[in-house]
Amino acid sequence: MNHPHLRRIGVLTSGGDAPGMNACLRAIVRTAVYHNLEVIGFQHGYRGVLLGEYQVLDARSVANIIQRGGTILGSARCPEMHHADGVERAAKNLKGLGIDALLVIGGNGSMQGAVALTEHWSGQIIGLPGTIDNDLGGTDWTIGFFTALDTALDAVDRLRDTADAFDRIFLLEVMGRHAGWIALFTGIGGGAEEILIPEQAYDAETIVTRIKDYRARGKQSLVVVVAEGACAGGVQQVAADIEGHGFETRTCVLGHVQRGGSPVALDRYLATELGVFAVQAVLAGETQMLAGKLGQANQLVPLREALADRNHQPPTHLLAINRFLAT
Ligand code: F6P
Repeated sequence: MNHPHLRRIGVLTSGGDAPGMNACLRAIVRTAVYHNLEVIGFQHGYRGVLLGEYQVLDARSVANIIQRGGTILGSARCPEMHHADGVERAAKNLKGLGIDALLVIGGNGSMQGAVALTEHWSGQIIGLPGTIDNDLGGTDWTIGFFTALDTALDAVDRLRDTADAFDRIFLLEVMGRHAGWIALFTGIGGGAEEILIPEQAYDAETIVTRIKDYRARGKQSLVVVVAEGACAGGVQQVAADIEGHGFETRTCVLGHVQRGGSPVALDRYLATELGVFAVQAVLAGETQMLAGKLGQANQLVPLREALADRNHQPPTHLLAINRFLAT
């Protein structure tokens, strides 16, 4: 049964786009339409709320997008949402448009914006985890992570071919901002010799000692996966540290390639399930929640708790396991 006062919902995609955001949007719109709700899609995240840039979405608006990367709504980072006057303006516009509930698909910054909105706007707010970084609490997985991972893994495989041919040391920098999820899973999946992530203190000496050891044992081609936040100076610093000990290296910074592309099956599944779940949560009268996946279950976790959740850390025990896997 519909919440009695619920008529119009808003949806936006915000922050770094992630493969699967479109699949999530499709699920949200189709579920909402099925329940006779109107859907307003704001363009370029919170910026669209501030500027009054939006489109009415119906079932046909989201046709043929389940397989498309990026986001048909557009995305942006919106500095205005860090200031009370910007948030107040967003709240005023949502009221003016008669939005009863807002669904925010994005990462940490987007959920902070959602929490800030709750101070000034009485409508329902549900967040959906959409970021390649997998760095949001309250959910095991974020929409986009699995696709970014496959892209990074493909890069490792390709680099391994040329590293093998030349007996070279390759450093691959992957995204993840302050989190090492992409690097850790890419390194394990790609059989990298070394994996450097922000969650583990960087120690140049240890890396160099291990490289010497690999070489002494006859292992010539080496792949080091470096999370962009692994150490101050990033992958260039790691390269300099290794080269300082007489080893030649080649560096590849994968960059935004990781953000694009058609979502893999797991991202489409996660996006679709959570999209439906989020609308159902709205219909049930829920608010200020993150619609996430914990274990096999869809779960609502208060947005503030999700943002404060320090338990959602990459499984660093894999680094120890990799010591004998990469011998
Ligand atoms: O949060 C997603 C992400 O791709 C991070 O991995 C990366 O650090 C950041 O966004 C890059 O941001 P921008 O696209 O604004 O350069």
